[in-house]
Amino acid sequence: MSVPFEPNLKGKVAVITGGGGVLCSVFAGALAECGASVAVLDLSLPAAESVAAGIRERGGTAAAYACNVLKKEELIAVRDRVCAELGGADILINGAGGNSPKATTDCEYYTENCEKSFFDLTPEGFSFVFDLNILGTLLPTQVFAERMACTGGGCIVNVSSMNAFRPLTKIPAYSAAKAGVSNLTMWLATHFAGAGIRVNAIAPGFFVTKQNKDLLFDKDGTPTPRTHKILAATPMGRFGKPEELVGALLFLCDGNASSFVNGVVLPVDGGFSAYSGV
Ligand SMILES: NC(=O)c1ccc[n+]([C@@H]2O[C@H](COP(=O)([O-])OP(=O)(O)OC[C@H]3O[C@@H](n4cnc5c(N)ncnc54)[C@H](O)[C@@H]3O)[C@@H](O)[C@H]2O)c1
Repeated sequence: MSVPFEPNLKGKVAVITGGGGVLCSVFAGALAECGASVAVLDLSLPAAESVAAGIRERGGTAAAYACNVLKKEELIAVRDRVCAELGGADILINGAGGNSPKATTDCEYYTENCEKSFFDLTPEGFSFVFDLNILGTLLPTQVFAERMACTGGGCIVNVSSMNAFRPLTKIPAYSAAKAGVSNLTMWLATHFAGAGIRVNAIAPGFFVTKQNKDLLFDKDGTPTPRTHKILAATPMGRFGKPEELVGALLFLCDGNASSFVNGVVLPVDGGFSAYSGV
């Protein structure tokens, strides 16, 4: 993979949750390309292993770890293994997150005929999405920042979303949860500023991945009306490619490039968040 610019992350250890997924596997590869040793954490060990193996084949250093970001004791055990096996934990990317059909309505606007309406959403569905995005950011931060605070600092990058700026229809839990991730990013940036830990977030626009493809394409691959609306609201008129997030990620991870950047939520969205619709 070619990276857009070349920060020097040699000697750094980067931990990435959800590292087996579509976006974070690209992040893991880019961090390794810049010299970091990468700990790829994922609920799915085979997914994490395949990403770590790909990095090693290209000459980088990476190891895979099965880890549920909602289980603090698993995170602590993985942190101790990462520190023993890779030599530390300087960078944390909180990538695990996402939406669920359990917290998604069928209709954009309230009508009486909606098959699964706002009123059918369950506390369990909402909690699933809240926990994955909010606790799934909070708990790894508690576990890894505790070590960063003792070792002189570090860098944390959370993954927010366009939903955090203005909610998208149909996915109220995900929208509210990602707004929480942006807010928590600012809180953490303030809290840890004196400990040398910078905390920022990237807010991806629209990238086609496993978790949103059912909303974006019919089973036969035809774009849904939602896809047409998204593209019409994206001034650049297309979906992003995962590689297009890498420049923002590396900028935020590189202590030389962004040493005074703390608490920002950086949109990478083809202009979606800037466009008023007119
Ligand atoms: N795809 C987009 O357009 C888009 C836009 C904005 C934000 N995001 C965010 O980007 C991040 C990555 O999303 P993606 O699109 O690559 O999704 P993805 O589904 O491809 O990847 C998510 C990964 O997280 C892992 N995971 C899920 N639950 C976990 C848990 N409890 N513990 C550990 N790992 C877990 C999954 O196994 C998967 O490998 C998410 O936070 C998502 O909300 C995505």
